[in-house]
Amino acid sequence: MTDDVSELHRLCDVAAEAARLAGSIMRSSFEGDFSFHEKSSFKELVSDVDLQCQETVVGHVLEAFPDHAILGEESDEHLDWRSCDGTVWLIDPIDGTTNYVNGIPFCCVSVAAARDSKVVAGAILDPFRDELFTAVRSDGAQLNGKSISVSKCKNLADSVVATEIHYALLRGRTGHFSGFPRVGRSVRSVRVMGSAALALAYVARGRLDAYWTANLSPWDTAVGQLLIEEAGGRVTDLAGNAYYPRNGPVLASNGRIHNKLLAIVH
Ligand code: IPD
Ligand code: CA
Ligand code: CA
Repeated sequence: MTDDVSELHRLCDVAAEAARLAGSIMRSSFEGDFSFHEKSSFKELVSDVDLQCQETVVGHVLEAFPDHAILGEESDEHLDWRSCDGTVWLIDPIDGTTNYVNGIPFCCVSVAAARDSKVVAGAILDPFRDELFTAVRSDGAQLNGKSISVSKCKNLADSVVATEIHYALLRGRTGHFSGFPRVGRSVRSVRVMGSAALALAYVARGRLDAYWTANLSPWDTAVGQLLIEEAGGRVTDLAGNAYYPRNGPVLASNGRIHNKLLAIVH
């Protein structure tokens, strides 16, 4: 192992430790008496548990690396992570807050480390199934320490894909959904999981063949993209252009059905 790779593994280990700390908070508070409120609309919630998880993850990361920068979903300031010098952490303390608040145990913690405008290591933890997805750039993707790869599915008719029913629809922005009937007719089934980061981890593990949506944020996709690429899949925007974690649309797949989906998704 070169020094560089071992340094990235160290980032990955710290991401995994931080995710485990937050995961244990998620488990112990689940279906408990926590409070939550609406953010910019009634469609977006934040709970006390999100805030506690973020504080815990940030605390753990900064204890290990005091000079690193932080982009956390629940922070007041959202810096442009690609223009940061040094290492920056992209943190989604609970991805799938609506599921969490409703007592649906499909949600996760996502913690990524990025350098030179690239995500280089990260971890997604599903605390309810005790599944830890980890990835290190150029050194593979793993689930609970075992190497994972994307599915081998080549035909849309055999594929199971996931998406979101985004609230932008309610504002009349049907762009992402205009392709829904075509995709729905072509694939075996479409799922709406309610946690983008965990759905992306499922693509990396080969449980889903693809995932697409209109509008995610950098912390939703940072680890998921790295997992999928390290597991042999492909991630682009909905026009097939190179993707990096940002506000906007994304199509992630096993690679084999990517172009077929691109042709009908938009
Ligand atoms: C949300 C989830 C959801 C997706 C939303 C995200 P949050 O993240 O990933 O599946 O549809 O666009 O904002 O708010 O639960 O962290
Ligand atoms: Ca999220
Ligand atoms: Ca979140």
